[in-house]
Amino acid sequence: MISWPISEPVLVDKALMLRPWAMEDAPRVYEICQDQAIQDFTTIPVPYTRAIADLWIGTAATSYQARDKIALAGVRNGEVVLSVSIHGIHEFDHVGEVGYWVSQTARGEGLAALSVQMISAFAFGIGFRRLSAITLPENMASQKTLIKAGFEMETVLRDGMTRRDGTQTDAVVFAKFPEIKITD
Ligand SMILES: CC(C)(COP(=O)(O)OP(=O)(O)OC[C@H]1O[C@@H](n2cnc3c(N)ncnc32)[C@H](O)[C@@H]1OP(=O)(O)O)[C@@H](O)C(=O)NCCC(=O)NCCS
Repeated sequence: MISWPISEPVLVDKALMLRPWAMEDAPRVYEICQDQAIQDFTTIPVPYTRAIADLWIGTAATSYQARDKIALAGVRNGEVVLSVSIHGIHEFDHVGEVGYWVSQTARGEGLAALSVQMISAFAFGIGFRRLSAITLPENMASQKTLIKAGFEMETVLRDGMTRRDGTQTDAVVFAKFPEIKITD
């Protein structure tokens, strides 16, 4: 069983704080999500408008209460630098999928791996039994992030994803498990 906390979590490790999204973050999310890599490697809507940022942030708290998604903003030195989330949650099966992006200016500092480790530890702590992540085959930065965060490459789904240009491509699946297996 997942022991879902009433309030969205605030997680702190080293200089990074993961906290619930606030409406004031919308301009920053809009700005960060203009980045080509984020548009190429995640499923955010393209073009990414300010209205989409507002809507996404505006529904985050409701999605948490509905147990659909845990979406957190990563803040360093008072500035939002990343997004990390668990979506695709199947509570009965105790599983979810991790997603993340880091602002172009904050990359290469280990923040993605740290944020994935932090949200994974939180999720396993409340009862998740498997977290997965799916990357495009060429997204080496994401694959390295996952390995650094303790995920293992599990399988390749042949033609498991569609690119922005409409072509079909393989999907690389990673997974991570709690250190102690829960059996009840
Ligand atoms: C993937 C992403 C989140 C990584 O963020 P980050 O904070 O730079 O990641 P980290 O610093 O934790 O480490 C990533 C690792 O990838 C490596 N890396 C970064 N860019 C790379 C590239 N283009 N090719 C190969 N490796 C790369 C880094 O060197 C690091 O490995 P190392 O510690 O062995 O040196 C960031 O590049 C991003 O936002 N990309 C666009 C969105 C995205 O791809 N999201 C994931 C979808 S599955």
